[in-house]
Amino acid sequence: MERLTSPPRLMIVSDLDDTLVDHHNDPENISLLRFNSLWEDAFRHDSLLVFSTGRTLPMYKKLRKERPMLTPDVIITSVGTEIAYGKSMVTDDSWVDIMNHKWDRGIVEEETSKFPELTLQRECDQRPNKVSFFIDKSKAQEVINELYQRLEKRGLEIKIIFSGGKALDVLPKGGGKGQALAYLLNKLNTEGKLPVNTLVCGDSGNDTELFTIPNVYGVMVSNSQEELLEWYEENAKDNAKIIHASERCAVGILEAIGHFKLGPNLSPRDVFDFLEWKGDSVNPGHEVIKFFLFYERWRRGEVENCEAYIASLKASPHPGGVFVHPSGAEMSLRDTIDELGKYHGDKKDQKFRVWTDQVLATETSPGTWIVKLDKWEQTGNERKCCTTTVKFTSKENGVVWENVQQTWSEESEMKDNSSWII
Ligand code: GLC
Ligand code: MG
Repeated sequence: MERLTSPPRLMIVSDLDDTLVDHHNDPENISLLRFNSLWEDAFRHDSLLVFSTGRTLPMYKKLRKERPMLTPDVIITSVGTEIAYGKSMVTDDSWVDIMNHKWDRGIVEEETSKFPELTLQRECDQRPNKVSFFIDKSKAQEVINELYQRLEKRGLEIKIIFSGGKALDVLPKGGGKGQALAYLLNKLNTEGKLPVNTLVCGDSGNDTELFTIPNVYGVMVSNSQEELLEWYEENAKDNAKIIHASERCAVGILEAIGHFKLGPNLSPRDVFDFLEWKGDSVNPGHEVIKFFLFYERWRRGEVENCEAYIASLKASPHPGGVFVHPSGAEMSLRDTIDELGKYHGDKKDQKFRVWTDQVLATETSPGTWIVKLDKWEQTGNERKCCTTTVKFTSKENGVVWENVQQTWSEESEMKDNSSWII
């Protein structure tokens, strides 16, 4: 969050499973990829991305390996009981203190063990401030009422959340996704960085609280669970700041950005003519995103008649421009583009995808930019990630690619020095 010097234009606070990530209808993650490129192109530089998930941190990391996910600015895990910041995920210790107020995991375990209706979830889904169970929907309300009373008698202040028609979480009273968001907004406000707009996105019971925070926009994706929709009908129907999207998951979020006019909502992935698609002003980050989208389509063999774009690419590098491959080998930028020409369709039918993460452009001196990003590439189940730095200078109607340097990212699972291609 330090990189922002003024209030973020938009803060998106999104649940992951069945909100940003579609587990049922999108095996190729197209809707997530559409969201990703919009975020990087239009919002990354001046907005905040927050993930708020029921998953524990290790289970979040697992999801990150399975799906093309961006790096959020803030990650709220374990149903709003843990908050961490930045790429390195630095824990918020003040939040830990709040979570330990009138909380005793041992007592929660002892009391809940008296309910045969409760089945403990897997060990990897348990956390210090989150005790999670499964329960039959028909028994949930009764058990919840009884548990509240018993734990209160034992001196605890807790909160019970029913989600997905089957999960029951016991948390500290001050925890939960809503409280965590309120805490974050307060922290940002103290720093003079209260977002201009906030959009919360969810699909199930543990997201309900997000929609109760004052002044936020909210989207319940089309595939939302009954318990969230029922809550909305009973409590928030008249709130024009909340919509039930007609689109599923990440595309429902794009729909909400458009509906509430929170910024552009045309994803670069939905633009097919690379030459016409220029943007309003010189924007080097945009050039990089556009290039890697072209690169994906070129290698998938999807773009035909791209001579004009290739010609424009060839014209855009500086004659002395160099590409430094992660292996350390170098090639001129012009030769690299010629080389790329040979790879048309080489990844056809191989589930090949490319996405860019944390694209940030800095103007280092008037007319000179450095764009830094993580470029991910996936073929089937294998993925690699290069930290990429591109230097641009401006020319009359656009930018000149000065040089491109890549190194293997720490997160890369595969380091392939055999291929020459970016
Ligand atoms: C996630 C968590 C699970 C929790 C559920 C509902 O699926 O993995 O432990 O019970 O969200 O909050
Ligand atoms: Mg969900």
